[in-house]
Amino acid sequence: MRHQAGAVTIIAAGRPGVRAGLTATAFSSLSDSPPTVLVCVQRRSGTHGVIVASKAFTVNILAREHQSLAERFSGKAGLSGEQRFLGDDVWDVLQTGSPVLAGALASLDCELLDEHQFATHSIFIGRVIDGRFRSEGEPLLYFRNDYWDIGAR
Ligand SMILES: Cc1cc2nc3c(=O)[nH]c(=O)nc-3n(C[C@H](O)[C@H](O)[C@H](O)COP(=O)(O)O)c2cc1C
Repeated sequence: MRHQAGAVTIIAAGRPGVRAGLTATAFSSLSDSPPTVLVCVQRRSGTHGVIVASKAFTVNILAREHQSLAERFSGKAGLSGEQRFLGDDVWDVLQTGSPVLAGALASLDCELLDEHQFATHSIFIGRVIDGRFRSEGEPLLYFRNDYWDIGAR
């Protein structure tokens, strides 16, 4: 799977004080009408239970300047839960109240519509009820076990 270049996202859920999020590439659009997306989240992740409990999540598509944030939300610095949100980056909320990264290329604010369990992961299907995007900026990609900045290469 590491040979598929993927957009890097942070999937986040919860309310300030009890937020959780993880770096993820397993994200896809599902349907236009209704507007839905799917994400695959490992069940042992701290974010999994928060998505189920809050019945909502956001998908924040990262820009090339967000590599250290992606590392932080993949657990590289040993931080978990709310601690991952306490860096320099600003987090807002839209309609669902789930965390929305200011400066993301785009953020999708989703209510949880459906959940399917398979092996170690859950497939969460979300209906996009709100969102915002930047009209400039370049994506952060993950490819062959490394982060790539297409603007620089
Ligand atoms: C580039 C990249 C992509 C990832 N994609 C996913 C993913 O799609 N789903 C997932 O559950 N974990 C994914 N992970 C792993 C999680 O980010 C990592 O296990 C994280 O620490 C989980 O949060 P937790 O510490 O709260 O369990 C990815 C990690 C990296 C570095």
